[in-house]
Amino acid sequence: MTAASPDTVSGLLREIADVGTDPVRGGYSRPVHSSAETELREWFVAQASRRGLDVETDRNGIVWAWHAPGGRRDGAIVTGSHLDSVPGGGAYDGPLGVASALVAFDRLAERADLHGAADRPRAIAVFPEEEGSRFGVACLGSRLLAGAIDPDRARALTDADGETFADVTARAGLDPAGLGPDPDALARIDTFVELHVEQGRGLVDLDRPIAVASSILGHGRWRVSVEGEGNHAGSTLMADRRDPMVAAARLVVRVRELASRVPDARATVGRLLPTPGGTNVIASRVDLWLDVRHPDDATTNGLVEEIRQAALLCAAEEGCTARMTEESLSPTVDFDARLRDDLAAALDAPVLSTGAGHDAGVLKDHVRTAMLFVRNPTGVSHSPAEDVEDADAEAGAEALAVALASLLVD
Ligand code: GLV
Ligand code: MN
Ligand code: MN
Ligand code: MN
Repeated sequence: MTAASPDTVSGLLREIADVGTDPVRGGYSRPVHSSAETELREWFVAQASRRGLDVETDRNGIVWAWHAPGGRRDGAIVTGSHLDSVPGGGAYDGPLGVASALVAFDRLAERADLHGAADRPRAIAVFPEEEGSRFGVACLGSRLLAGAIDPDRARALTDADGETFADVTARAGLDPAGLGPDPDALARIDTFVELHVEQGRGLVDLDRPIAVASSILGHGRWRVSVEGEGNHAGSTLMADRRDPMVAAARLVVRVRELASRVPDARATVGRLLPTPGGTNVIASRVDLWLDVRHPDDATTNGLVEEIRQAALLCAAEEGCTARMTEESLSPTVDFDARLRDDLAAALDAPVLSTGAGHDAGVLKDHVRTAMLFVRNPTGVSHSPAEDVEDADAEAGAEALAVALASLLVD
């Protein structure tokens, strides 16, 4: 380990503040394996190497930075997050967890009160495509690691330019044939703790800086493709149209109506793509993407079925056809209750649930898992308005260090 490091979480985040800024949408657009996300990974590798950690990128593109005393990596305590973003996202969703992990590791190395079992392996993990913004499936890296997605399906996923995940993976220097379950890597992890900016107002309302997570809301994504008849905007009478944009617009309103009737449900159409997409062109096809969340997975399925029927109806009313396919589904996750309570007591922190998905939720089926949240004064996320006060960011890193130290002596 290097000598005392003056790094702070806010200082580290300032180093990457210019990477992947989006002048059109505002905020950051850092899709997986884009030049921006690659630059952030390189930044992370440099930061980890500077700290004397052993850095490796595994066959699923997950970057691991190890403190492996005597070369041992078994029974490891692991923390980390992601560096990809949604389009036009905030500065903290993902990078806060990575920067906090670096600072927490500094504290574990430097502070006698946190030394605990300094001989126990620990690592920082950075997961690719957590947001699913480029290839559609959220938490793609952790799903591959955990065997929660068929590698053939992952390889064939395409981005908006029609590039496959296999091709993009190969360009990033990985062997696409190697993508898939990695039981040995999973077996090395004793406990995973992810720190994340809170994506709501829970901590603001409680007037507290840090929380421990109780659960992640079940969530899934579906793609609806509506096919109609492409034609000329000027020469096609209104009565003669089969316009998939009109069917899609009606469906968006129905999604709101149907979800509003189900207590605790959330349903969103945040992305819609007309083909070919010209001002003077009646679209021939519209794709829209649906995100549905509810604590009870059977209720999610019921609501999605109602939306499927609504899609068929909205399409038929316009002389179009519709097809709805599932892209991913993540059941509600309850984190390890004992660890949750131990961390809440050790950190004197409240316990909060979240409506946002995380790699920790995927890993939870395989390793003991916990999450910490850091207050977000705006309560807004997946938006440039996402925010964290510097003092809260440092409190988060301290809480993470204390949490990791307690696990390292466990
Ligand atoms: C990712 O942050 C998600 O919850 O969709
Ligand atoms: Mn995130
Ligand atoms: Mn996110
Ligand atoms: Mn997320």
